[in-house]
Amino acid sequence: MKTMPDNSVDLILTDPPYNIAKYSTGNIYLPGREALNNDIAKWDEVEFNPQELVYDFKRILKKDGNIFAFTSYNLIGKWHEAFDKEFDTFQFFVWHKTNPVPKIFKNGFLNSCEMIVCMWNKGHRWNFSNQREMHNFFESPICMSPERLQNPKHPTQKPVKLLKHLISIASNEGDIVFDPFMGTGSTGVAALQLGRKFGGCEIDSVYFEAAQNRLELCHG
Ligand SMILES: C[S@@+](CC[C@H](N)C(=O)[O-])C[C@H]1O[C@@H](n2cnc3c(N)ncnc32)[C@H](O)[C@@H]1O
Repeated sequence: MKTMPDNSVDLILTDPPYNIAKYSTGNIYLPGREALNNDIAKWDEVEFNPQELVYDFKRILKKDGNIFAFTSYNLIGKWHEAFDKEFDTFQFFVWHKTNPVPKIFKNGFLNSCEMIVCMWNKGHRWNFSNQREMHNFFESPICMSPERLQNPKHPTQKPVKLLKHLISIASNEGDIVFDPFMGTGSTGVAALQLGRKFGGCEIDSVYFEAAQNRLELCHG
């Protein structure tokens, strides 16, 4: 990202670490079936501070660009503190997962909602056509087979349907979408399917290769 030119990106749509591993009680192992995944990942344990993204996000984003970033309850305050003063608008959007991991011990709410923080300045690109599309809420199942990669398995692979909704709202065909935490490249797949251009980063070489393979398939 540091090597990218100023004012070069139309939409930053990204899914950085949530730092929730420290609150997790671990995967749930059940006799005779696959363990229930609690989104445990080593990369999630590395301290993540949204403040570290402010300078480069502002620098690479075009003046009429938008930023959407997935996050969690424990980091929402840090996102707001870092970005609210830097942009004209700071809002949040909710993804409601229609098939969340069950709470088999009935000891709390299902984790059926994820938050996406949204930032932009006056004059930003916006493609809402009617009020019904303007709800800051979207329903879709979590990523399942055949979309969900089996090798490598990524614990937080996001559904392309949700990403396409966000990209459609906030960019135009031919625009450049950037995801600096792209995992298996789901944002890129959604962007290319909608006729946008895509650039992304991923620190893990196995996920990076998986993303590259998915993106190459989109190019045909
Ligand atoms: C929440 S996951 C993204 C998953 C992605 N949305 C998908 O659908 O596959 C966050 C990703 O950020 C990567 N990551 C963590 N720190 C990073 C860094 N400093 N630079 C680039 N990628 C990083 C992790 O390896 C992980 O794959």
